[in-house]
Amino acid sequence: MKILVTGAAGFIGYHTSKKLIQNGHEVVGLDNINDYYDINLKYGRLNDLGIERKQAKKFNFITVSKIFPNPFKFIRMDLLHSNALKDLFINEKFDVVCHLAAQAGVRYSLENPEAYVDSNIVGFLNILECCRHNKIKHLVYASSSSVYGLNKKIPFEVSDNVDQPISLYAATKKSNELMAHTYSHLYGFSTTGLRFFTVYGPWGRPDMAMFLFTEAIIKGNPIMVFNNGNMERDFTYIDDIVEGVVKVIETPLKIRSIKKDTYKIYNIGNNKSVKLMDFIKAIEKSLGIKAKKEMQPMQSGDVVKTWANVDELIKDYKYSPGTPIKKGVDSFIDWYKKYYKFK
Ligand SMILES: NC(=O)c1ccc[n+]([C@@H]2O[C@H](COP(=O)([O-])OP(=O)(O)OC[C@H]3O[C@@H](n4cnc5c(N)ncnc54)[C@H](O)[C@@H]3O)[C@@H](O)[C@H]2O)c1
Repeated sequence: MKILVTGAAGFIGYHTSKKLIQNGHEVVGLDNINDYYDINLKYGRLNDLGIERKQAKKFNFITVSKIFPNPFKFIRMDLLHSNALKDLFINEKFDVVCHLAAQAGVRYSLENPEAYVDSNIVGFLNILECCRHNKIKHLVYASSSSVYGLNKKIPFEVSDNVDQPISLYAATKKSNELMAHTYSHLYGFSTTGLRFFTVYGPWGRPDMAMFLFTEAIIKGNPIMVFNNGNMERDFTYIDDIVEGVVKVIETPLKIRSIKKDTYKIYNIGNNKSVKLMDFIKAIEKSLGIKAKKEMQPMQSGDVVKTWANVDELIKDYKYSPGTPIKKGVDSFIDWYKKYYKFK
């Protein structure tokens, strides 16, 4: 299959591209390499895929991987450059689009709402339009557990009401689902939205808890523990997420439980909730350092507990998440120490 992966220099996009390449697909990675967080990490991920920084820097220029010469190419492109995007689709003729590029993060959406509307709404529309005009068979895109807002019903099910998002980030993700539904209905191509639940692991995002806690503990700085630690998350290890995303891409669409449906949403998580304090304990244990904790009140836009019901993904795709928190945390810490040369 020929697959476009957007957000390929990002955390999930990098891992997904790598797995798809290893599975023998021809992959084109796209990313604008924005500076929402340390760009060195983005170039580092690309370098691991055989794309040199000097080449990756150039806008709208296709670079072929030095490690995976045939199947992997990278292009630095902004989703907002609709003409360049159209040309890419016409020239490359993709079978499937895996759309992971977005302005991520709940807290940053309080400071810079425009970035969310630009990348997540206008950018998503540009992807939909390209899929529509280039006969893309399947668009797989990232939604988020944040669409559940203050949902009290545990675990979260796709059939739960998600009409009350509590951050602009969540509102853009819910909008993506609505826009995908409209395009599937109007133009008949299949769309699958995956609601990711707190993903962590090697090459993870520096704005997320796993990374922030590890960095602070190593430097001897206090960690900010929101809602006095009274939070729970369905922490999902990156390999489990990638396994699910790749299964959704590779499996013929006809296996879906609702055979005729071209539009579908799934939760993709670990299927259990872990207490934030237990997560912190796992990091402390792996590092062998006790954290200095600074208890903070709840932040606006944040939710107390998330927990994914993933039964449908198990039924339709034999999804089987299983990485225990200790193993996942240890792999992150191993990577972190190697990457930042910390003994
Ligand atoms: N990591 C999680 O826990 C999590 C949870 C829920 C949903 N998600 C969603 O999964 C997807 C991937 O998340 P991630 O954690 O890998 O984030 P990430 O920030 O590491 O990756 C996103 C990538 O998209 C790129 N990008 C952003 N705007 C762009 C634009 N306009 N044009 C081109 N590229 C652009 C960024 O440069 C970045 O490299 C996102 O859609 C995110 O909202 C992630």
